[in-house]
Amino acid sequence: MKETQLKDIDWNLLWQKAREEKTRRSKGPDDWDRRAAPFFKRNIHSVYSKKFIKLLKPEKSWTILDIGCGPGTLALPLARRVKKVTALDFSPKMLAILEQQARKKEILNISTHNLSWTDAWGEGGITPHDVTIASRSIAVEDLRSALEKMTKYAKKSVVIADRVGHGPLDPEAYKIVGRELKTGPDYIYTINLLYQMGIQAKIDFIPIEDTQSYPSLNEAVESYEWMFHDLTADEKNRLKKYVQSITTTTSEGRFSIHRKHVPTWAYIWWHP
Ligand SMILES: C[S@@+](CC[C@H](N)C(=O)[O-])C[C@H]1O[C@@H](n2cnc3c(N)ncnc32)[C@H](O)[C@@H]1O
Repeated sequence: MKETQLKDIDWNLLWQKAREEKTRRSKGPDDWDRRAAPFFKRNIHSVYSKKFIKLLKPEKSWTILDIGCGPGTLALPLARRVKKVTALDFSPKMLAILEQQARKKEILNISTHNLSWTDAWGEGGITPHDVTIASRSIAVEDLRSALEKMTKYAKKSVVIADRVGHGPLDPEAYKIVGRELKTGPDYIYTINLLYQMGIQAKIDFIPIEDTQSYPSLNEAVESYEWMFHDLTADEKNRLKKYVQSITTTTSEGRFSIHRKHVPTWAYIWWHP
């Protein structure tokens, strides 16, 4: 039997195959539009952006291109720390929330662009920036092209946040609801592909301990429901019991969830 050599492995192809097997398949702009408001609500108080920005160490003079910016999880706090943020996303609803929040906070140095990963960015007025960022947003068929594109548009650094294992999904909840969870490719594909591309990437990890508490058990359960499509009444019931079993009540009568698996993101960066 012929032995497989490291150089024979096509990490881009493995990534594509792993994506095909994912339980939660990639979504188009309409799906992200529908998820925009709840995504914003879930992420507005998350420790994620603080931890990401701490690793990034932004400089006042930087221009940043934030690809798959969502409702501005990073674009909004970064705008106060850098010269300019260009926020790009294919979901108009995500961009609308970002724009509304920027107006509310009187932030004037963010420009938004309704573009997808595969659009011709140059034609959409996008030029190279000091730093390109793709945070939790490399939802593409061709990972190599996306990494090459980010590198081409960066003058100083390229930064991505990629899932570690199940990422924000809770495998215990899937087990109890009775559904199979196939999480698709995680950061290890990206790291290996970058190595094959001759890029020496550095890596750190962002664990997201849930520090949020919810005013009611129902809201704590709601913070889990986004993980599943079309829950039946029976599945919903099982999910509720599970969330209840990992929830404690604070002295103020609020509900805190304690997950067995801490959702973790890989923070990967390199110089172009
Ligand atoms: C999980 S959210 C991440 C948002 C933000 N970067 C963060 O870390 O909170 C993923 C975002 O990527 C966007 N997205 C997904 N696929 C995309 C594509 N092909 N082109 C542009 N944006 C895309 C979605 O609309 C969504 O706003």
